[in-house]
Amino acid sequence: MTTAEDQSVSGTSDAVTAGSHATEIARSGAATFRSGGGAVDQQRAAAVIGAALEGIRGAIRDQKVTYEEFDAFKRWLIGVSDTGEWPLFLDVYLEFEVEKVAAQTQDGSVGTILGPFWLDGQAQLDSPATLPMRDDEPGTPMILAGQVTGTDGKPLAGAKVDIWHTDEEGWYSGFASKPPAGNLRGVVTADAEGRYEIHTRKPAPYTIPLDGPTGQMTLAAGWSPWRPAHIHLLVSAPGHRTLTTQLFFTGDPYLGNDVASADKPELTLDPQPTGNGSEVRSDRDFVLEPE
Ligand SMILES: [Fe+2]
Repeated sequence: MTTAEDQSVSGTSDAVTAGSHATEIARSGAATFRSGGGAVDQQRAAAVIGAALEGIRGAIRDQKVTYEEFDAFKRWLIGVSDTGEWPLFLDVYLEFEVEKVAAQTQDGSVGTILGPFWLDGQAQLDSPATLPMRDDEPGTPMILAGQVTGTDGKPLAGAKVDIWHTDEEGWYSGFASKPPAGNLRGVVTADAEGRYEIHTRKPAPYTIPLDGPTGQMTLAAGWSPWRPAHIHLLVSAPGHRTLTTQLFFTGDPYLGNDVASADKPELTLDPQPTGNGSEVRSDRDFVLEPE
């Protein structure tokens, strides 16, 4: 597992490195599977921005915020910008509410947040696939398999399962120096029956970076900085709404206390031994709604 001490001692990841990369990706708008953009209606802008500001003003009034605290808040905001942690802060502390709103109009499998660690342009693989990994990749070998169908129950031939997760030490390739680029990431194309099978390693819980303002704020408030172990997935098929989700593991000590508030009971896996050494397997089907 990754701990605060590991992060500061090993130097394999730091807030500025991870933050600047995540900021670059967010700025590029690479997450094109999410629709959006376009002109903002003035009434809508006034309603949303007005409500957000009033929420903060309300906190100032209710908590009788002092000038010292207001100045500390300014310094903290500047620090978030300096470290490039806006994607991290927003995805950890606010995205789950946006996802809940989106879920009100989404049929099919249960989704959850994307988070700041997705990367475009990863290995394209056909099912059954083994994710790119080191020769001596540590961790429990794991198979994740299932079928992708539409809400009408029909298999979606050639559906894509974009998968990314940490290694056994809780590090993401592309955001920490330890795992090589592309490690434990890939886009797997399902077969003609929409079936996919992915061979990987079981991921580990991790803390958000603790050397930046988001982690420092979390610790200052006495909140847990941990995320339960999880696998991120984007499941897509032509003509269907892309599903953004994560899968967790039964028995994880951080379930129910996820710093990103992204875990849901429907998204928990209970991998079982396959009899092949220490290998485990979980089956999970996905249902996509038409666009
Ligand atoms: Fe994650």
